[in-house]
Amino acid sequence: MAACFSLSRQSTCALGLLRTSPSASALKLSSALRASAGTFQFHEPSRDLSSIRPLSLKPLAVIQPQLVRSLTTKKEIQENLKKFEKGNFDTVPDPDHLQHFKERAKKKEDSDSVKTSSLQETHDAVSHDHPMGKYTLPHPIWSEDQLHDVQITHTPPEGFVDKLAFFSVKMLRGGFDIFSGFKVGQRNEHKWLKRIIFLETVAGVPGMVAAMMRHMISLRRMQRDHGWIHTLLEEAENERMHLMTALQLKQPSWIFKTAVIGSQGVFVTLFGIWYAISPKFCHRFVGYLEEEAVKTYTKCLEDINGGPLKHWQTQEAPDVAVRYWQLPEDATMRDVILAIRADEAHHRVVNHTLASMKPDQFNPYKPGK
Ligand SMILES: [Fe+2]
Ligand SMILES: [Fe+2]
Repeated sequence: MAACFSLSRQSTCALGLLRTSPSASALKLSSALRASAGTFQFHEPSRDLSSIRPLSLKPLAVIQPQLVRSLTTKKEIQENLKKFEKGNFDTVPDPDHLQHFKERAKKKEDSDSVKTSSLQETHDAVSHDHPMGKYTLPHPIWSEDQLHDVQITHTPPEGFVDKLAFFSVKMLRGGFDIFSGFKVGQRNEHKWLKRIIFLETVAGVPGMVAAMMRHMISLRRMQRDHGWIHTLLEEAENERMHLMTALQLKQPSWIFKTAVIGSQGVFVTLFGIWYAISPKFCHRFVGYLEEEAVKTYTKCLEDINGGPLKHWQTQEAPDVAVRYWQLPEDATMRDVILAIRADEAHHRVVNHTLASMKPDQFNPYKPGK
């Protein structure tokens, strides 16, 4: 045991010396090691530590908060603030965040006399009434012309993967139309809302799963993403906001909610597996799904213009929609459906574009575009 102890201490010492000192020290230690191994006696080793230098910690010294912060200069911050104020959405997608901080700063000034703990401040921030649709990812805000220029289009499938995606969507749509009973009897608001709510719970899945898959690939392979993730997340959130809007008009039953849970479980799993096998198939599949979505919302607009949804021409738009799409205060449900259809047409072109690209090509869509 004594010999082991001695040997162990010497070995540790030898490691330090071999890293840092010239050959003379290592030689000296080597003889000490031989001696202890031969005699099996415990002894305090003769150490010449004068030549040991501490290991250099220079790489760690680089990671200092001041140095990291200095990557953004005060001048750059001031320039960014000017862009905020001008509403430059290329660099600052949601200028309301700035307003939010200003509001909080003002609140703090007002209650200057009251010293609050950091815990209390956190509580205030959480309990503050944040209106829905105000704090969202960037997304396109459509002009009147863009809203009315949306056309039903079709990208012809080329090759086996495209055809498989196209026929999968056709099959799913046909099956859903029969299963949901949408085409049986008269269409009405109840049927429309049921259809919209269910389809939007499904439509929000692909963007999120695809973004997660690309995120994980980037982490796993330690490679860059080429700018796709933000567009996919924006799409997922945009679909979720369609859902939030429709939910202002109807609250689903527990049977409906159960069906959504089941379909989500199946679709998230399948889409994840498909994305791992063929991202091209998945984006093409979503491209064709969006072609169908544009048809659906065009049909919905027909019903608003002269069908069972006529009252949506004058029905007030939900507050969440007014905030999200920056609609005028007197906007109607018709304006909301026009905006949703424009979003679907945008997803259509984005996904067909991504399907035609290689996964390591740069995403041409900027945030919010
Ligand atoms: Fe949607
Ligand atoms: Fe969509």
